[in-house]
Amino acid sequence: MLVLGIESSCDETGVALYDSETHTCSHVLHSQIALHAAFGGVVPELASRDHIKKILPLINKLLSETGRELSDIDAIAYTRGPGLMGALWIGASLAHTLAWSLDRPLIGVHHMEGHLLAPMLEAESPSFPFLALLVSGGHTQIVRVDDFGKYEILGQTIDDAAGEAFDKIGKVLALPFPGGPSLAKLAEQGKPGQFKLTRPMLDRPGLTLSFSGLKTQTIQAWRNSNQTDQDKANLAWSFQDTVVETLTQKMKRAMLETDIKHLVVAGGVGANRALRARLGTLAESMGGAVFYPRPEFCTDNGAMIAYAGWARLQRGERTSAHTIDVLPRWSMEAI
Ligand code: KG4
Ligand code: ZN
Repeated sequence: MLVLGIESSCDETGVALYDSETHTCSHVLHSQIALHAAFGGVVPELASRDHIKKILPLINKLLSETGRELSDIDAIAYTRGPGLMGALWIGASLAHTLAWSLDRPLIGVHHMEGHLLAPMLEAESPSFPFLALLVSGGHTQIVRVDDFGKYEILGQTIDDAAGEAFDKIGKVLALPFPGGPSLAKLAEQGKPGQFKLTRPMLDRPGLTLSFSGLKTQTIQAWRNSNQTDQDKANLAWSFQDTVVETLTQKMKRAMLETDIKHLVVAGGVGANRALRARLGTLAESMGGAVFYPRPEFCTDNGAMIAYAGWARLQRGERTSAHTIDVLPRWSMEAI
């Protein structure tokens, strides 16, 4: 079965073809980073307009690169939510139009389920049950995954997402947009331990996370420093270390509580090398393993949507092609 996946929930237009017979995925992507950089954050209306411009040329590119035609597509999957209303609408309306005109099955996919299942596209993929750390610009969640579609959120942030905190600190430090990868790069030049930041929520039991207080503390530390280039790198190191250590400690708690030793890390912040290293050490020390999507499938992409859509179609699920609906806010537990 050949499934077309369409992702347009935020600032990446991604389309992909998942071939279930060969278990391979071809994808093309257009990132809007340059478009939003001048504003220091994603501008929803500009995002929607750009998705409209890019989505059809991207599908044509995907088809020509893979030597396929529209009529070869057996089913269509699209991101139904969560995300920006207008941006979701572009992918959803195209998916509905294609499904209706080609007379193919359609399936709406939860964006975070896409991230969560993305490691399944790799040669070394996890088996159920596993614990997933979903860390993106909009989400920070620890999820227990007992089976496909069986998701229990064990803990999540009560305020900022980890990626959002990276982005905001990046902005305060005047780093290139988006702040996450820029700050991670700068942290490599930082000296450890020069700024002492409090690891949030570690003094309390449970798996709840919070990054807003850390963000305020980091901004204060910057204002109280001499603001030299080395201060900036040192603060980037301390901030990254605090986020990474907090996430790692919470994952350790979740592993001990559930006795599940396999971890999946997905979402944009999953590309962070310090986080990967620390979680790798943790999993190894607990006799488990950690699984990641390849870096290009960590951030938003159409491949994860095509694959998650295929998995749902296999279970007999369908979305009607007659009424277009998107869910900008949508809990994973409500799928
Ligand atoms: O999953 P994603 O592409 O989009 C959302 O669904 O949010 O995640 C984007 C987020 C941004 O906040 C970005 O700054 C962050 O992931 N990010 C990183 C790194 N690469 C991307 N954060 C920390 N370190 C990185 N290397
Ligand atoms: Zn995402």
